Amino acid sequence: MASQKLTSEQVFALEDKYGCRNYAPVPVALCKGEGVFVWDVEGKKYYDFLSAYSAVNQGHCHPRIIAALKKQAEKLTLVSRAFYSDQLCVYEKFMTELLGFDRLLPMNTGVEGGESALKIARKWAYYVKKIPENKAKVIFAEGNFWGRTLAACSASSDPSCYEGYGPHMPGFTLVPYDNIPALEKELKDPNVCAFMVEPVQGEAGTVIPQPGYLRKVRELCTKYNVLWIADEVQTGLGRTGKLLAVQHEDVKPDILILGKALSGGALPVSAVLANNEVMNVIKPGTHGSTYGGNPLACAVAMEAIKVLLEEKMVENAAKLEHVLREELEKIPKNKITTIRGKGLMFAIVVHDSIPAYDVCLRLRDAGLLTKTTHGQTIRLAPPLVITEQQLRDGCAIIKKVLDSFDK
Ligand SMILES: Cc1ncc(COP(=O)(O)O)c(C=O)c1O
Repeated sequence: MASQKLTSEQVFALEDKYGCRNYAPVPVALCKGEGVFVWDVEGKKYYDFLSAYSAVNQGHCHPRIIAALKKQAEKLTLVSRAFYSDQLCVYEKFMTELLGFDRLLPMNTGVEGGESALKIARKWAYYVKKIPENKAKVIFAEGNFWGRTLAACSASSDPSCYEGYGPHMPGFTLVPYDNIPALEKELKDPNVCAFMVEPVQGEAGTVIPQPGYLRKVRELCTKYNVLWIADEVQTGLGRTGKLLAVQHEDVKPDILILGKALSGGALPVSAVLANNEVMNVIKPGTHGSTYGGNPLACAVAMEAIKVLLEEKMVENAAKLEHVLREELEKIPKNKITTIRGKGLMFAIVVHDSIPAYDVCLRLRDAGLLTKTTHGQTIRLAPPLVITEQQLRDGCAIIKKVLDSFDK
């Protein structure tokens, strides 16, 4: 079966029969990717305007990232943290110097990064802030999404994420996103140890806070001696036109979580960064992961970041923001009611008269892939290697598809 060439229909049928139905993918079966393009098993070429939820910022199968993967794969892939490797230390130095933190904790998926950040915050609560045992509270913003573990589901305000998975994690509180008075009210509780927030909410539909929100979050967390955890798993590494989205407001969180594009789509690689007074609450034997910090992941992540910086992908995302906005604004208001975006992290809300999922199907037929998030919202997040011409071309497809809903 593995060597047999499958048709799209066969791929859909096999997955439907043998896989857990935890996703409802757009029906397209892909087998190849290069830069901003992917190909299906019948050879049809598409623009990828989703980038694996911003994991493929560097474009599909970037030759330098794949070369680093192959080179390291032939030497050493995994030692576990029972031993040292010659890659992890170099990677830790590289990342901490680049981002201005003292230490890095390597993990694998984004959600593990979030779990780890919360474990660090709870330890800090008891050992540093001296919150009474088991009383530590963490605040999250409504509409947050940080993965699928029980803690992440417990923090969610979205029933499709948390329903049926109780009992939920105690010690979690929700406040409205982008609402400073509501946040300050909660921060006054001396048992609060952390506020975890996305600088732009991704899964919620690219929700961008008011200018000044992150700056105020920083101020208040400092004032009330609460750790600010920035979840940059989706916004990080160039997506919003800065290396980190918090840099738009020139602020620094106490704990930073990265994932997705940290490997340019090659492997699950995540990281938590913090300074000594926070990270040092974790002692040997109190947290870990077999694959976290494996030499293969470290070599790939370093190359993925070098590629991003040296090929000026962050600058490209910043430069093309106005092109994407300008092109989308040409589409009439009876088709797109709202455009939200920063860098190349965009979402459009299509008019209620147009079924958003059907838009994605017609886009697929016209050679562009993306997906809806909640309701009428469709994300637009191409790889950051996209050229201006390709972006305008992609927007022309979107316009043509939306025009087709008149007929
Ligand atoms: C902001 C944010 N945090 C965390 C995660 C979880 O990452 P992963 O799916 O790699 O566990 C996601 C995934 O979409 C995310 O968007």
